[in-house]
Amino acid sequence: MLRRTSLWGSEDALRNADCELWIVSADSQSAVFGERFNPQFEMHNPQWEHTTVLLREAVDLVAPRPGGVYVDGTLGGGGHAEEVLKRSEPDGVLVGLDQDKEAVARSRERLARYGRRAIICQENFRDLKQVLAEFKIERVDGVLLDLGLSWFHLRSPERGFSFMTEGPLDMRMDAGRSTTAADLVNTLSRHDLARIIREYGEDTKAYAIAKAIERARDREPITSTTQLAQIVSAVFPPYPPRRIHPATLTFQALRIAVNDELGALRDGLEQAVNLLKPGGRVAIISFHSLEDRIVKQAFAAHAKGCICPPRFPVCRCGKKPDMKVLTKRPVTASKDEIAANPAARSAKLRAAEKLPV
Ligand SMILES: C[S@@+](CC[C@H](N)C(=O)[O-])C[C@H]1O[C@@H](n2cnc3c(N)ncnc32)[C@H](O)[C@@H]1O
Repeated sequence: MLRRTSLWGSEDALRNADCELWIVSADSQSAVFGERFNPQFEMHNPQWEHTTVLLREAVDLVAPRPGGVYVDGTLGGGGHAEEVLKRSEPDGVLVGLDQDKEAVARSRERLARYGRRAIICQENFRDLKQVLAEFKIERVDGVLLDLGLSWFHLRSPERGFSFMTEGPLDMRMDAGRSTTAADLVNTLSRHDLARIIREYGEDTKAYAIAKAIERARDREPITSTTQLAQIVSAVFPPYPPRRIHPATLTFQALRIAVNDELGALRDGLEQAVNLLKPGGRVAIISFHSLEDRIVKQAFAAHAKGCICPPRFPVCRCGKKPDMKVLTKRPVTASKDEIAANPAARSAKLRAAEKLPV
Protein backbone atom coordinates (compact mmCIF):
# COMPACT_ATOMS: atom_id res chain seq x y z
CA MET A 1 0.00 0.00 0.00
CA LEU A 2 1.20 3.51 -0.72
CA ARG A 3 1.86 5.88 2.09
CA ARG A 4 3.58 9.22 2.05
CA THR A 5 7.06 9.53 3.51
CA SER A 6 8.03 12.39 5.71
CA LEU A 7 8.98 15.36 3.57
CA TRP A 8 12.33 15.76 5.18
CA GLY A 9 13.42 12.13 5.42
CA SER A 10 17.07 11.30 4.92
CA GLU A 11 18.28 10.00 1.57
CA ASP A 12 18.66 6.50 3.07
CA ALA A 13 15.16 6.61 4.45
CA LEU A 14 13.91 7.65 1.07
CA ARG A 15 15.76 4.90 -0.72
CA ASN A 16 14.59 2.19 1.67
CA ALA A 17 10.98 3.23 1.84
CA ASP A 18 8.48 1.04 0.00
CA CYS A 19 6.14 3.88 -0.60
CA GLU A 20 5.48 7.08 -2.41
CA LEU A 21 8.66 9.11 -2.46
CA TRP A 22 10.40 12.30 -3.29
CA ILE A 23 12.41 11.78 -6.42
CA VAL A 24 15.55 13.85 -6.17
CA SER A 25 16.58 15.02 -9.59
CA ALA A 26 20.17 15.73 -10.48
CA ASP A 27 19.50 19.19 -11.80
CA SER A 28 17.69 21.36 -9.30
CA GLN A 29 17.52 18.62 -6.67
CA SER A 30 13.82 19.01 -6.99
CA ALA A 31 12.00 16.48 -4.95
CA VAL A 32 8.74 15.62 -6.57
CA PHE A 33 5.95 14.51 -4.32
CA GLY A 34 3.70 11.69 -5.39
CA GLU A 35 6.16 9.84 -7.65
CA ARG A 36 6.66 6.21 -7.01
CA PHE A 37 10.27 5.28 -6.53
CA ASN A 38 11.49 3.29 -9.48
CA PRO A 39 13.16 0.02 -8.52
CA GLN A 40 14.50 -0.35 -12.05
CA PHE A 41 16.34 2.91 -11.68
CA GLU A 42 17.70 1.79 -8.35
CA MET A 43 18.90 -1.52 -9.81
CA HIS A 44 20.43 0.31 -12.70
CA ASN A 45 22.18 2.64 -10.27
CA PRO A 46 23.21 0.51 -7.29
CA GLN A 47 25.67 3.18 -6.17
CA TRP A 48 23.55 6.03 -7.49
CA GLU A 49 25.93 6.42 -10.41
CA HIS A 50 25.34 9.20 -12.90
CA THR A 51 23.19 8.09 -15.81
CA THR A 52 23.79 10.11 -18.94
CA VAL A 53 20.69 12.02 -20.02
CA LEU A 54 19.51 12.19 -23.67
CA LEU A 55 22.63 10.31 -24.74
CA ARG A 56 21.60 9.25 -28.24
CA GLU A 57 19.61 12.41 -28.96
CA ALA A 58 22.41 14.81 -27.96
CA VAL A 59 25.17 12.93 -29.77
CA ASP A 60 22.96 12.49 -32.87
CA LEU A 61 22.63 16.27 -33.00
CA VAL A 62 26.37 16.83 -32.65
CA ALA A 63 26.79 14.24 -35.45
CA PRO A 64 30.41 13.22 -34.79
CA ARG A 65 32.38 11.79 -37.69
CA PRO A 66 35.90 10.42 -38.21
CA GLY A 67 38.57 13.08 -38.22
CA GLY A 68 36.39 15.66 -36.45
CA VAL A 69 37.35 17.71 -33.39
CA TYR A 70 34.74 17.88 -30.64
CA VAL A 71 34.36 19.48 -27.23
CA ASP A 72 32.46 18.11 -24.26
CA GLY A 73 32.47 21.08 -21.88
CA THR A 74 30.81 19.15 -19.05
CA LEU A 75 32.43 15.72 -18.77
CA GLY A 76 30.69 14.64 -15.53
CA GLY A 77 30.88 10.84 -15.70
CA GLY A 78 32.15 10.89 -19.31
CA GLY A 79 29.03 9.31 -20.85
CA HIS A 80 28.46 11.77 -23.69
CA ALA A 81 32.22 12.11 -24.24
CA GLU A 82 32.66 8.38 -24.71
CA GLU A 83 29.82 8.20 -27.21
CA VAL A 84 31.37 11.05 -29.23
CA LEU A 85 34.71 9.23 -29.22
CA LYS A 86 33.08 5.98 -30.37
CA ARG A 87 31.18 7.66 -33.18
CA SER A 88 34.21 9.58 -34.43
CA GLU A 89 36.45 6.52 -34.67
CA PRO A 90 39.17 5.96 -35.71
CA ASP A 91 40.75 9.42 -35.51
CA GLY A 92 38.23 11.95 -34.15
CA VAL A 93 39.50 14.01 -31.19
CA LEU A 94 37.56 14.99 -28.11
CA VAL A 95 38.56 17.83 -25.80
CA GLY A 96 36.77 17.19 -22.52
CA LEU A 97 36.46 19.79 -19.76
CA ASP A 98 34.97 19.84 -16.31
CA GLN A 99 35.54 22.35 -13.56
CA ASP A 100 35.22 19.58 -10.98
CA LYS A 101 38.49 17.82 -10.18
CA GLU A 102 36.78 14.53 -9.32
CA ALA A 103 34.78 14.49 -12.57
CA VAL A 104 38.03 15.00 -14.47
CA ALA A 105 39.73 12.13 -12.64
CA ARG A 106 36.77 9.83 -13.27
CA SER A 107 36.57 10.73 -16.95
CA ARG A 108 40.33 10.30 -17.42
CA GLU A 109 40.01 6.77 -16.15
CA ARG A 110 36.95 5.98 -18.25
CA LEU A 111 38.38 7.46 -21.44
CA ALA A 112 41.96 6.24 -21.00
CA ARG A 113 41.53 3.58 -23.68
CA TYR A 114 41.01 6.26 -26.32
CA GLY A 115 44.59 7.38 -25.75
CA ARG A 116 45.56 10.69 -27.37
CA ARG A 117 42.17 11.03 -29.01
CA ALA A 118 40.80 12.17 -25.61
CA ILE A 119 42.27 15.39 -24.19
CA ILE A 120 40.94 15.88 -20.66
CA CYS A 121 41.41 19.06 -18.61
CA GLN A 122 40.06 20.57 -15.42
CA GLU A 123 38.71 23.82 -16.80
CA ASN A 124 35.60 25.94 -16.86
CA PHE A 125 33.91 25.90 -20.27
CA ARG A 126 33.69 29.69 -20.10
CA ASP A 127 37.45 29.62 -20.89
CA LEU A 128 36.97 27.38 -23.92
CA LYS A 129 38.73 29.62 -26.41
CA GLN A 130 41.84 29.92 -24.28
CA VAL A 131 41.93 26.19 -23.50
CA LEU A 132 41.68 25.25 -27.18
CA ALA A 133 44.38 27.80 -28.05
CA GLU A 134 46.72 26.01 -25.65
CA PHE A 135 46.27 22.88 -27.78
CA LYS A 136 46.61 24.92 -30.98
CA ILE A 137 43.00 24.16 -31.93
CA GLU A 138 41.39 27.06 -33.78
CA ARG A 139 38.09 25.57 -34.92
CA VAL A 140 35.95 22.62 -33.84
CA ASP A 141 33.24 20.48 -35.43
CA GLY A 142 30.98 20.21 -32.43
CA VAL A 143 30.42 21.31 -28.84
CA LEU A 144 28.25 19.59 -26.27
CA LEU A 145 27.21 20.98 -22.89
CA ASP A 146 25.15 18.98 -20.41
CA LEU A 147 24.63 21.56 -17.68
CA GLY A 148 24.22 21.40 -13.95
CA LEU A 149 25.10 18.82 -11.38
CA SER A 150 25.91 15.16 -11.66
CA TRP A 151 24.79 12.40 -9.30
CA PHE A 152 28.33 12.38 -7.95
CA HIS A 153 27.75 15.85 -6.56
CA LEU A 154 24.42 14.96 -5.01
CA ARG A 155 25.57 11.78 -3.41
CA SER A 156 28.63 13.40 -1.81
CA PRO A 157 27.30 15.11 1.34
CA GLU A 158 30.65 16.81 1.90
CA ARG A 159 30.11 18.86 -1.27
CA GLY A 160 27.04 20.49 0.27
CA PHE A 161 24.69 20.32 -2.74
CA SER A 162 21.93 18.23 -1.20
CA PHE A 163 19.49 19.46 1.40
CA MET A 164 18.64 15.82 2.11
CA THR A 165 21.97 15.01 3.76
CA GLU A 166 23.96 16.78 6.44
CA GLY A 167 27.05 18.49 5.05
CA PRO A 168 28.95 21.77 4.96
CA LEU A 169 27.13 24.51 3.07
CA ASP A 170 29.63 24.55 0.22
CA MET A 171 28.15 23.97 -3.30
CA ARG A 172 31.34 24.80 -5.23
CA MET A 173 31.72 22.65 -8.34
CA ASP A 174 35.30 23.89 -8.59
CA ALA A 175 36.72 23.52 -5.08
CA GLY A 176 39.32 26.16 -5.99
CA ARG A 177 36.70 28.92 -5.99
CA SER A 178 36.88 31.17 -2.96
CA THR A 179 33.19 31.75 -2.20
CA THR A 180 30.97 29.03 -0.75
CA ALA A 181 27.21 29.01 -0.20
CA ALA A 182 27.89 29.52 3.53
CA ASP A 183 29.80 32.71 2.69
CA LEU A 184 26.80 34.02 0.76
CA VAL A 185 24.14 33.21 3.36
CA ASN A 186 26.24 34.58 6.21
CA THR A 187 27.49 37.80 4.63
CA LEU A 188 25.08 39.08 1.98
CA SER A 189 22.51 41.71 2.88
CA ARG A 190 18.89 40.64 3.16
CA HIS A 191 18.21 42.55 -0.03
CA ASP A 192 20.94 40.74 -2.00
CA LEU A 193 19.93 37.34 -0.66
CA ALA A 194 16.32 37.97 -1.63
CA ARG A 195 17.42 39.04 -5.11
CA ILE A 196 19.46 35.85 -5.62
CA ILE A 197 16.64 33.61 -4.39
CA ARG A 198 14.10 35.46 -6.54
CA GLU A 199 16.21 35.67 -9.72
CA TYR A 200 17.94 32.28 -9.65
CA GLY A 201 15.36 30.28 -7.72
CA GLU A 202 12.26 32.09 -8.97
CA ASP A 203 10.87 31.56 -5.46
CA THR A 204 7.92 33.84 -4.70
CA LYS A 205 8.81 33.76 -0.99
CA ALA A 206 12.34 35.06 -1.63
CA TYR A 207 12.03 38.05 0.68
CA ALA A 208 10.56 36.04 3.58
CA ILE A 209 13.29 33.42 3.17
CA ALA A 210 16.02 36.08 3.15
CA LYS A 211 14.52 37.59 6.30
CA ALA A 212 14.44 34.17 8.02
CA ILE A 213 18.08 33.59 7.06
CA GLU A 214 19.05 36.98 8.44
CA ARG A 215 17.31 36.30 11.73
CA ALA A 216 18.83 32.83 12.05
CA ARG A 217 22.39 33.97 11.33
CA ASP A 218 22.10 36.68 13.98
CA ARG A 219 21.79 33.83 16.48
CA GLU A 220 24.59 31.65 15.04
CA PRO A 221 26.36 31.25 11.68
CA ILE A 222 24.60 29.01 9.16
CA THR A 223 27.13 26.37 8.23
CA SER A 224 25.31 23.19 7.22
CA THR A 225 22.91 22.08 4.50
CA THR A 226 20.28 20.72 6.85
CA GLN A 227 20.45 23.84 9.04
CA LEU A 228 19.64 25.99 6.01
CA ALA A 229 16.98 23.55 4.80
CA GLN A 230 15.24 23.82 8.18
CA ILE A 231 15.39 27.61 8.25
CA VAL A 232 13.85 27.80 4.77
CA SER A 233 11.26 25.10 5.48
CA ALA A 234 10.00 27.01 8.51
CA VAL A 235 8.97 29.89 6.21
CA PHE A 236 6.38 27.66 4.51
CA PRO A 237 3.17 26.47 6.14
CA PRO A 238 3.06 22.65 6.39
CA TYR A 239 -0.34 22.48 4.65
CA PRO A 240 -1.18 22.09 1.89
CA PRO A 241 1.94 19.94 1.15
CA ARG A 242 4.11 21.35 -1.60
CA ARG A 243 5.03 19.53 -4.78
CA ILE A 244 8.69 20.19 -4.10
CA HIS A 245 10.72 20.43 -0.93
CA PRO A 246 10.52 24.02 0.39
CA ALA A 247 14.32 24.43 0.21
CA THR A 248 14.62 23.27 -3.41
CA LEU A 249 14.57 26.67 -5.05
CA THR A 250 16.77 28.35 -2.44
CA PHE A 251 19.40 25.63 -2.88
CA GLN A 252 19.15 25.96 -6.66
CA ALA A 253 19.58 29.74 -6.40
CA LEU A 254 22.61 29.56 -4.13
CA ARG A 255 24.26 26.92 -6.31
CA ILE A 256 23.77 29.05 -9.41
CA ALA A 257 25.22 32.09 -7.60
CA VAL A 258 28.20 30.26 -6.08
CA ASN A 259 29.23 28.81 -9.46
CA ASP A 260 28.11 31.79 -11.57
CA GLU A 261 26.37 29.19 -13.72
CA LEU A 262 24.43 31.59 -15.91
CA GLY A 263 27.43 33.84 -16.57
CA ALA A 264 29.51 30.79 -17.52
CA LEU A 265 26.77 29.56 -19.84
CA ARG A 266 26.53 32.93 -21.64
CA ASP A 267 30.31 33.15 -22.05
CA GLY A 268 30.77 29.48 -23.02
CA LEU A 269 27.93 29.53 -25.51
CA GLU A 270 29.26 32.60 -27.34
CA GLN A 271 32.73 31.10 -27.52
CA ALA A 272 31.36 27.77 -28.75
CA VAL A 273 29.47 29.50 -31.55
CA ASN A 274 32.56 31.50 -32.59
CA LEU A 275 34.80 28.44 -32.52
CA LEU A 276 32.59 26.26 -34.73
CA LYS A 277 33.59 25.50 -38.31
CA PRO A 278 30.85 26.04 -40.91
CA GLY A 279 28.55 23.05 -40.57
CA GLY A 280 29.76 22.50 -36.97
CA ARG A 281 27.13 22.02 -34.29
CA VAL A 282 26.50 22.97 -30.71
CA ALA A 283 24.08 20.98 -28.52
CA ILE A 284 23.10 22.01 -25.00
CA ILE A 285 21.11 20.14 -22.39
CA SER A 286 19.66 22.38 -19.70
CA PHE A 287 17.70 21.53 -16.60
CA HIS A 288 15.83 24.65 -15.62
CA SER A 289 14.06 27.49 -17.35
CA LEU A 290 16.76 30.11 -16.66
CA GLU A 291 19.36 28.09 -18.57
CA ASP A 292 16.97 27.07 -21.31
CA ARG A 293 15.95 30.69 -21.87
CA ILE A 294 19.59 31.75 -22.30
CA VAL A 295 20.22 28.98 -24.84
CA LYS A 296 17.00 29.62 -26.75
CA GLN A 297 17.57 33.38 -26.93
CA ALA A 298 21.24 33.06 -27.91
CA PHE A 299 20.42 30.63 -30.73
CA ALA A 300 17.57 32.87 -31.92
CA ALA A 301 19.84 35.94 -31.93
CA HIS A 302 22.48 34.13 -34.01
CA ALA A 303 19.84 32.80 -36.40
CA LYS A 304 18.46 36.29 -36.99
CA GLY A 305 19.61 38.56 -39.80
CA CYS A 306 19.13 42.34 -39.90
CA ILE A 307 18.32 43.97 -36.56
CA CYS A 308 17.76 47.52 -37.86
CA PRO A 309 14.62 49.30 -36.59
CA PRO A 310 11.67 48.68 -38.95
CA ARG A 311 11.62 52.39 -39.89
CA PHE A 312 14.99 52.06 -41.69
CA PRO A 313 14.27 51.74 -45.42
CA VAL A 314 17.47 49.75 -45.97
CA CYS A 315 19.58 47.63 -43.70
CA ARG A 316 22.41 49.53 -42.04
CA CYS A 317 23.50 46.98 -39.45
CA GLY A 318 24.71 44.42 -41.99
CA LYS A 319 24.03 41.60 -39.56
CA LYS A 320 23.70 38.19 -41.20
CA PRO A 321 22.54 35.01 -39.51
CA ASP A 322 25.48 32.80 -38.58
CA MET A 323 23.59 29.86 -37.06
CA LYS A 324 20.65 27.70 -38.05
CA VAL A 325 18.50 26.37 -35.21
CA LEU A 326 18.12 22.58 -35.50
CA THR A 327 15.54 22.15 -32.74
CA LYS A 328 12.43 24.31 -33.19
CA ARG A 329 11.20 22.88 -29.91
CA PRO A 330 13.54 21.47 -27.28
CA VAL A 331 14.09 17.72 -27.39
CA THR A 332 12.95 16.07 -24.16
CA ALA A 333 13.42 12.61 -22.69
CA SER A 334 11.09 9.80 -23.67
CA LYS A 335 8.73 8.25 -21.14
CA ASP A 336 10.99 5.20 -21.01
CA GLU A 337 14.07 7.27 -20.26
CA ILE A 338 12.26 9.18 -17.51
CA ALA A 339 11.01 5.92 -16.01
CA ALA A 340 14.56 4.57 -15.96
CA ASN A 341 16.14 7.86 -14.87
CA PRO A 342 13.81 10.42 -13.23
CA ALA A 343 16.56 13.06 -13.42
CA ALA A 344 15.86 13.23 -17.15
CA ARG A 345 12.36 14.64 -16.61
CA SER A 346 13.42 18.28 -16.74
CA ALA A 347 16.11 17.98 -19.41
CA LYS A 348 15.74 20.16 -22.51
CA LEU A 349 18.07 19.75 -25.44
CA ARG A 350 18.59 22.45 -28.05
CA ALA A 351 21.04 22.47 -30.93
CA ALA A 352 22.17 24.78 -33.70
CA GLU A 353 24.49 24.57 -36.72
CA LYS A 354 27.05 27.13 -37.89
CA LEU A 355 26.29 28.57 -41.29
CA PRO A 356 28.94 29.16 -43.92
CA VAL A 357 30.05 32.80 -43.85
C1 LIG B 1 25.18 16.77 -15.72
S1 LIG B 1 26.90 16.57 -15.48
C2 LIG B 1 27.47 16.00 -17.06
C3 LIG B 1 27.28 14.53 -17.25
C4 LIG B 1 27.93 13.98 -18.49
N1 LIG B 1 27.35 14.53 -19.70
C5 LIG B 1 27.86 12.48 -18.53
O1 LIG B 1 27.44 11.93 -19.55
O2 LIG B 1 28.26 11.85 -17.55
C6 LIG B 1 27.44 18.21 -15.50
C7 LIG B 1 28.93 18.39 -15.24
O3 LIG B 1 29.26 19.68 -15.71
C8 LIG B 1 30.20 20.25 -14.85
N2 LIG B 1 30.07 21.70 -15.05
C9 LIG B 1 29.03 22.50 -14.77
N3 LIG B 1 29.29 23.76 -15.12
C10 LIG B 1 30.53 23.77 -15.68
C11 LIG B 1 31.36 24.78 -16.24
N4 LIG B 1 30.98 26.06 -16.31
N5 LIG B 1 32.56 24.41 -16.73
C12 LIG B 1 32.99 23.13 -16.67
N6 LIG B 1 32.26 22.13 -16.11
C13 LIG B 1 31.03 22.45 -15.63
C14 LIG B 1 29.82 19.76 -13.48
O4 LIG B 1 30.94 19.78 -12.62
C15 LIG B 1 29.33 18.34 -13.78
O5 LIG B 1 30.36 17.40 -13.61
